[in-house]
Amino acid sequence: MSFTVSLYLDLAPRTDSFSDEVIRGLSGRPKTLPSKFLYDGRGSQLFDQICELEEYYPTRTEMSILSGNMPEILDALGQSAILIEYGSGTSTKTRLLLDNLTDADSYVPIDISREHLISASEHIQKSYPHLTVLPVCADYSQRIPLNLNPTPGSRITVFFPGSTIGNFEKKEAVDFMARLSSIVGPGGGVLLGVDLVKDVETLTAAYDDAAGVTALFNQNILMHINARMAGCFDPDAFMHRAVWNGSEQRIEMHLESQTRQTVELGDEVIEFEKGETILTEYSHKYTLESFAALAQEAGFTVDHVWTDPDALFSVQYLTAVTS
Ligand code: TRP
Repeated sequence: MSFTVSLYLDLAPRTDSFSDEVIRGLSGRPKTLPSKFLYDGRGSQLFDQICELEEYYPTRTEMSILSGNMPEILDALGQSAILIEYGSGTSTKTRLLLDNLTDADSYVPIDISREHLISASEHIQKSYPHLTVLPVCADYSQRIPLNLNPTPGSRITVFFPGSTIGNFEKKEAVDFMARLSSIVGPGGGVLLGVDLVKDVETLTAAYDDAAGVTALFNQNILMHINARMAGCFDPDAFMHRAVWNGSEQRIEMHLESQTRQTVELGDEVIEFEKGETILTEYSHKYTLESFAALAQEAGFTVDHVWTDPDALFSVQYLTAVTS
């Protein structure tokens, strides 16, 4: 029996919009790159390796919170017919839910990395043959027209693990969550992972591991750009930096130019001073209070919070406030 799954929707950014976004980011001061471009095929594989690192506590902590509280989580979720996952990657955490959400009839994984998404969807389809798997390749910082038409009375649950919400800036996080609230509708909810503020050593180690996997992951964005735009980045000429910004409560990931250099990208030439950085990603950390305020702004109430004994990470179930 074959478990070929085809894309339900393909909204991956086209090459011209990819190039436009890269040039726009590198023309700004400070220079930035959209973090979604970290996730090509190799980037997604490197990210899976990050999740296995000793220093990277979020993945194993979130998994243990999910598996240790499953009866209560299922109770909060109720009957869910459709499970939508944003940034599904390898869908490892989803299995914990799908093993238990026996009434789910459709699973909609959304990810920007097409090959990774298709192979993960095929593995899921193989494990759960009765599930309708509807993969969507998209940049979910944009609105996605899903048109799922659930049967009346059935519930939509959004699963958003990994504290990916922390990768948005505050305003974007609120806008994104507000879109989720209209997708799940009254009665639906969002089960998400939210990483918590903690000591700086633990935080910086998680984003700058001793084996250098995170550095390779960050530098890979330059290789992805080289491949898509006939670019001439030398990834080794940029050093990975992870810095805690205490007033904004976030880790900031940068690539720091090791020399003064010029880099050709197709028809464009970008100049770098020695020590100049490209900002590639924010990872905001929250307290339970600061996240509850954000959720409320986006039209949600926090229905349930589960944490680990050391309060490193939280899994939260939010329900849409009906007006
Ligand atoms: N969502 C992950 C996080 O914020 C993404 C991530 C982990 C990441 N390590 C990274 C992004 C290193 C850029 C660089 O924890």
